Amino acid sequence: MPTEAKPVFEPRGGESWRDPFSMYRALRDHDPVHHVDPGDDSGDYWVLSRFQDVFEAAIDAGTFSSADGLTFAYGEKEKLGIEAPIVMMDPPDHTALRKLAIKRLTPRQVQATRPMLRAFVVERVERLREAGEGDVVAELLKPLPSLVVSHFLGVPAEDRSLFDRWTEAIVAASAGGSVLGAADAVGEMFAYFNDLIAKRRSEARDDMISALVHGRLNTGEEVSLAKILGLCFTMVTGGNDTVTGLLGGSLELLTSRRDQRQMLLDDPSRLDGAIEEFLRLTAPVQGLARTTTRDVVIEGRTIPQGRKVMLLYASANRDEREFGPDAADCDITRNMRRILSFSYGPHFCIGAAAARLQARVAIEELLSRCPDFSVDARRGRYAPGHFVRRYESLPFRAGGAA
Ligand code: HEM
Repeated sequence: MPTEAKPVFEPRGGESWRDPFSMYRALRDHDPVHHVDPGDDSGDYWVLSRFQDVFEAAIDAGTFSSADGLTFAYGEKEKLGIEAPIVMMDPPDHTALRKLAIKRLTPRQVQATRPMLRAFVVERVERLREAGEGDVVAELLKPLPSLVVSHFLGVPAEDRSLFDRWTEAIVAASAGGSVLGAADAVGEMFAYFNDLIAKRRSEARDDMISALVHGRLNTGEEVSLAKILGLCFTMVTGGNDTVTGLLGGSLELLTSRRDQRQMLLDDPSRLDGAIEEFLRLTAPVQGLARTTTRDVVIEGRTIPQGRKVMLLYASANRDEREFGPDAADCDITRNMRRILSFSYGPHFCIGAAAARLQARVAIEELLSRCPDFSVDARRGRYAPGHFVRRYESLPFRAGGAA
């Protein structure tokens, strides 16, 4: 009898992002607690691919710590050299900082951005429609999230083009492995935020920086400057390419699945359900790591203490055990209890509502202004980076095949 080759986990990036899904399926079916031993001194790590296992790890921060960073490299904390940003903190310190940050990202505050988002999207979609075609990433999918992040941080409108330029450089460099690849942009953005923090200290506004500057942690302490700067950077690095990924993948699905698009055109009230399905299938953050604080047994295998464990959110989102035999299929009417695109538990994305609203406004306007649009996924280019799957360019045609 032929023996099946054991599945192998290979970190993706660029063109190899086109189809990581057969690898995920093989891992789920044949080696759900997969051990990677690169055989050099970079260190071994583990990979979880089934929904239930990823979900349980995400909610158990006591066993699966974020403190040593979210990649499969070891020693991230030491390399950082500055205070850990919010994503690299564990409860209870993490909880206290997070409480302050989400004060300025409430559902009401997110909904209040709708007219601003719509005005921006309409202008960009109209530009594409008039031109007939273009790169939808450059025109719409990249600048839209940058506008949103700058809004919540409280960057004044007149500084936005500066902020967009830094954002672009920092997001591109962090996809390549380290923000240090954009040292000038990082330095300029740090200096800018330092200045903005000082301004908000003397005069509070309705933005996240003001909430952090004037808020107190549960210990009664002020939030340190390093923590505020860390949060600003996490917003920039976490709130941009993820949304670009969600939107690019959604347009691809709307192009390849005309039946699903037609359902949306016939009944726009299905849009919320469609966005959940697009989030499930695109899962822009394909996976992130934690570090075990003790030996832990999963599916009968023991992961030793102190090892990095990749939580493959994108694989979990396609697990037939959770979503049924048609899990790989796009069905905007699907009934889902939960998805892992924004993780779960203490680090659940604080920008989830803002991301959903951007998707909603962008898809609504594209469908109503260019109901026959298409994107050419074959000519689309994937961005580098092992963790976020997104197009860095995607040819768009306003009416018909791109
Ligand atoms: C489709 C778009 C988005 C996706 C898929 C996404 C995904 C995620 C995921 C998976 C995490 C958890 C990280 C972990 O596992 O440790 C996270 C955290 C976070 N996200 Fe998002 N995100 C999106 C949009 C946004 C936006 C628009 C913002 C800002 C406005 C944002 C800000 C953050 C922040 C600050 C955290 C850290 C939360 C914490 O550590 O407590 N994200 N996001």
